[in-house]
Amino acid sequence: MHNQNYLNKIILGDSLEILKHFDENSIDLVLTDPPYFLDKMDNNWNYNKVADTRNQQIVKSLPSGMAFNKKLGVEFYEWFNLISAEILRVLKPGAFFFSFSSPRLYHRLVSAIDDAGFEIRDNFIWLYTLNQPKAMSLNHFIDKMAISEGEKNALKDQFKGWKTPQIKSCYEPIVMAQKPVDNTFLKTFIEYGTGLINTEVKVGNNMFPANVLTIDDINPLIDKYFLISKPNKREKGENNHHKTVKPIEICEHIIKLTSFNKDAVVLDPFVGSGTTAVAAKSLGLNYIGIDTNPEYIQIADERLSQISKSIPDSK
Ligand SMILES: C[S@@+](CC[C@H](N)C(=O)[O-])C[C@H]1O[C@@H](n2cnc3c(N)ncnc32)[C@H](O)[C@@H]1O
Repeated sequence: MHNQNYLNKIILGDSLEILKHFDENSIDLVLTDPPYFLDKMDNNWNYNKVADTRNQQIVKSLPSGMAFNKKLGVEFYEWFNLISAEILRVLKPGAFFFSFSSPRLYHRLVSAIDDAGFEIRDNFIWLYTLNQPKAMSLNHFIDKMAISEGEKNALKDQFKGWKTPQIKSCYEPIVMAQKPVDNTFLKTFIEYGTGLINTEVKVGNNMFPANVLTIDDINPLIDKYFLISKPNKREKGENNHHKTVKPIEICEHIIKLTSFNKDAVVLDPFVGSGTTAVAAKSLGLNYIGIDTNPEYIQIADERLSQISKSIPDSK
């Protein structure tokens, strides 16, 4: 089956399987945000279980991030390495692969991409201010100790402010990887329209694009250099209950920064509620999305139906 069958569609299925049907050297950009499953009770997680909703349960007794298990990181690496190998195959030479990540799992994600054959070009940082602290007080455990009430209270006083090691997270890393170019940068760009960045795409107060991005007003200096305009409150769509929706503006920025071809195809193999596809369509480009969850696909299709494909102006 050729990519044409998938063009401008959100496909239901497991990425690893679906990607095998794509033509090699056919995709201009991959921009994605994969699942991690790190907080799940099930230590034997593997990608076949992803679609099983019984597997979606977060550990209730612990704040997310507490169910720390090294094996999960290794399994994630192995799975994402297979995904990355497929992505490497389908991308055009010189084309970029951007993936959102988490500070805690970045090393596994990037090693998986690197070991699949990509060149790691950079690490973008998406800064934000609104996030819940997840560190947990130990009072609950002190209450269960076989000691007197007085001793418990003394311990609580003594340990006041000391919590589990989860610093409040205020950024998300986004790896920028590149499929090696066939020849020189110039020859690759002439042949495939991939592998260079468009430095006329500005952020903040008309600034040269940098590897820091933010959608929050943080302080005037950061805003001046790195602020991408805030997402419209309605941009998620009324019925969008996906838990990890990304800002369209950041996706649009990354697409504009790296896409030269008027008919570029932007692929998101973990498309969720469709943000990458919405950004690509708004910019007048082609998209392909994949997700295992039919509910998310419906949300993505609804969002996509509300935007009309614009005509790219400067390419
Ligand atoms: C972090 S979310 C992406 C959210 C998306 N960026 C958005 O803005 O809505 C990851 C998505 O990957 C999907 N997923 C998990 N395993 C998958 C697999 N093996 N193949 C395709 N999609 C998968 C999940 O259903 C989830 O919607």
